[in-house]
Amino acid sequence: MSLKGMSIISIRDMEKEHLEEVIRVAGEVKRGKHKNFLKGKVISTLFFEPSTRTRLSFESAAKQMGAEVIGFAGSDYTSVKKGESLGDTIKTVSGYCDLIVMRHHLEGSARYASEVASVPVINAGDGANQHPTQTFLDLFTIREYFQDFSSLKVAFLGDLKYGRTVHSLAYALSLYKTTIWLISPDLLRMPQFLVEELRANGSSVREIDNLEQIQETFDILYVTRIQRERFGDPQEYMKVAGSYRITRGVIESLGKNIKIMHPLPRVDEIDFDVDTMDNAIYFKQAHNGIPVRQAILGLVLGTI
Ligand code: CP
Repeated sequence: MSLKGMSIISIRDMEKEHLEEVIRVAGEVKRGKHKNFLKGKVISTLFFEPSTRTRLSFESAAKQMGAEVIGFAGSDYTSVKKGESLGDTIKTVSGYCDLIVMRHHLEGSARYASEVASVPVINAGDGANQHPTQTFLDLFTIREYFQDFSSLKVAFLGDLKYGRTVHSLAYALSLYKTTIWLISPDLLRMPQFLVEELRANGSSVREIDNLEQIQETFDILYVTRIQRERFGDPQEYMKVAGSYRITRGVIESLGKNIKIMHPLPRVDEIDFDVDTMDNAIYFKQAHNGIPVRQAILGLVLGTI
């Protein structure tokens, strides 16, 4: 099942075979099997919203494989500032490159961009909606520890309402019928239509208020930040800020095999002294962004 020429907008557009193909090829890339396969290509990174990992790992990934990179981080010095529409920006940039990577605050913006672009578009995060390449690197990282996703037990903790990384990853895991716990304050519950979608795909899904309510061992705790920038009302944010915190003690109580993941950036939801525990794999996750995004670029451009 080929990704060649496809825009990568939502994990919902993917079949399990696509997920397995990216994981397989990313493994080959990480082992050094493919070299310089983006030579002669130009990649645009259009980041209308802040990013550290996604933009820089895409740019590093592309350059390491021989591509040229153009683009912007923040649209203040582009013609968007003069009133240019997103559609006109995308149509114009399509003529300057082979592929567009875009992050934008509006849900649905990446889908729209893919409809007007004449080159493939990769969604690097559209509002609270989807972040599919984060999911590919999350799955790749999980596979480095667990072969069988269907027997996995994964707890998601935090902002499940606005957390696009959770929306994408939970959906992908539901294709494997992974057992899922959703742990959040009431205000930050995952939208019900997404929960129903996970169940319809065959996952057992339980929504709970705190970690202590899980009475059995599980494999992965995927923690997310409460995203202040997504709240319309600062008072609503203050009601939930600091409502959970992962410490060494919490992790020890979960058993020595538990893996702690986080898409990053972190604010205060995981103590810094957790970083040295073998359970903490979130920086490894971030570093896997390079081979995984290289694989995605190569597969979409048909050069790998
Ligand atoms: N995980 C992630 O998307 O990080 P950035 O916002 O730094 O790109």
